[in-house]
Amino acid sequence: MKILVMNGVNLNLTGKREQSVYGRETLEEINARIAAYCKENGDDAEFFQSNYEGALVDKLHEAFLNRSADGIIFNAGAFTHYSYALRDAIAAIDLPVVEVHMSNVHAREEFRRTSVISEVCRGTVSGFGAGSYLAAITGLKAMLKK
Ligand code: DQA
Repeated sequence: MKILVMNGVNLNLTGKREQSVYGRETLEEINARIAAYCKENGDDAEFFQSNYEGALVDKLHEAFLNRSADGIIFNAGAFTHYSYALRDAIAAIDLPVVEVHMSNVHAREEFRRTSVISEVCRGTVSGFGAGSYLAAITGLKAMLKK
């Protein structure tokens, strides 16, 4: 299976910003862990991070149009809470997208409890640190095997 792992705004600073919330592991280290996990399970992982909403929209379109992924794991960062452009892009593509958050967004500020993308995603994993990405991949694979 080809899995596209996408990270949005500010997630390039993972491991360096708000370590008490997001941990000390950098995005590169987390991605290496995800790549090893995918390899063990016979899957290919591709990684994409951008701080720009349009670049994330373009990547979602590309995965759909080029059929370059079977499923997408997506931590949209703060875009989760207000980006209708990303919501429409996810709705537009005929690919399963799993929403991911490292922190438990329901145990934090009120604005984080709203996700405008949840409705168009196949599932959500939140609160397990970097483990949220691995749990999302396990869920995506289980769903696609059905
Ligand atoms: C996040 C949660 C968001 O509310 C926040 O804006 C982020 C990261 C998470 O992984 O917990 O940037 O998506």
